[in-house]
Amino acid sequence: MAEPRHFLDLGGIESGTLREILDLAAGFKRDRDGGRPLDGKTMAMIFEQPSTRTRVSFEVAMRQLGGEVIVLESAGTQLGRGETISDTARVLSRYVDAIMLRTTADEKLRELARHATVPVINGLTDRCHPCQVMADVMTFEEHLGPIAGRVVAWSGDGNNMATTWIQAAVRFDFDLRLACPEPCLPPAAELEWARAEGGRVTVGQDVQAAVEGADCVVTDTWVSMGQEAGAERRELLAPYRVDDRLMGLAAAHAIFMHCLPARRGEEVTESVIDGPRSVVWDEAENRLHAHKGILAWCLG
Ligand code: CP
Ligand code: NVA
Repeated sequence: MAEPRHFLDLGGIESGTLREILDLAAGFKRDRDGGRPLDGKTMAMIFEQPSTRTRVSFEVAMRQLGGEVIVLESAGTQLGRGETISDTARVLSRYVDAIMLRTTADEKLRELARHATVPVINGLTDRCHPCQVMADVMTFEEHLGPIAGRVVAWSGDGNNMATTWIQAAVRFDFDLRLACPEPCLPPAAELEWARAEGGRVTVGQDVQAAVEGADCVVTDTWVSMGQEAGAERRELLAPYRVDDRLMGLAAAHAIFMHCLPARRGEEVTESVIDGPRSVVWDEAENRLHAHKGILAWCLG
């Protein structure tokens, strides 16, 4: 039997395939009533962490493509009582055509994918958030044209979103300049992977240098789900806040992106996120279209 088409991280999928998914997404966005290719298909979505965008956009995407979803809060399933992920994977694979998981440890997602006989989609782990960055690349390209050869600056925590941007830089061939405090660097293994793949990814503590002339400035919450929200952490990250002065160093046409949810006054000022360069609402909308592309590819 052919291996299911899992969507686990951008690093594990070829550039051409990611481009194909974005093309599908753009097609679905252009033609909202473009048929019901997933008629009769059902996806289970398991949430071990909260979600607004991922949950609603996947559910709407699936329905608009003719399919159905079953949403499972893991605490209300036998997973919450200790049934193994591998057994859950094997059982759900007998009922549904795809499984989306939002969880903590990436290893749980990998285990699900190892044992599922249907496609598994990463709805966010502590390590990465690939569905989000597909929507982000789509948004960048809608506003500024092809992302290849362009410059994206990341300012803030080297978290799951930062790791996904690192993978995207390699797969979509753009320059990524990360500015993160020393204790909040992205995992060394992700940076080594990017270098080994020939990616143009730099990381340092000079925020101004990272943002200078960039086409796009991105940040994310200082406190990801499951992390401790200490005062020390906020102090460490304060110099990385995206404000008007920092945006002023980027290219004149630069856009601002944030996956949301945002904390105005922490990682970004109100004037930036609600200002003219912010494309965060397009970015949120594009989750819907990007998810259609991902679903169509996985269930192809
Ligand atoms: N950006 C994102 O994944 O949002 P949710 O946590 O609301 O799904
Ligand atoms: N880094 C954030 C992203 C939320 C979509 C988190 O993991 O909480």
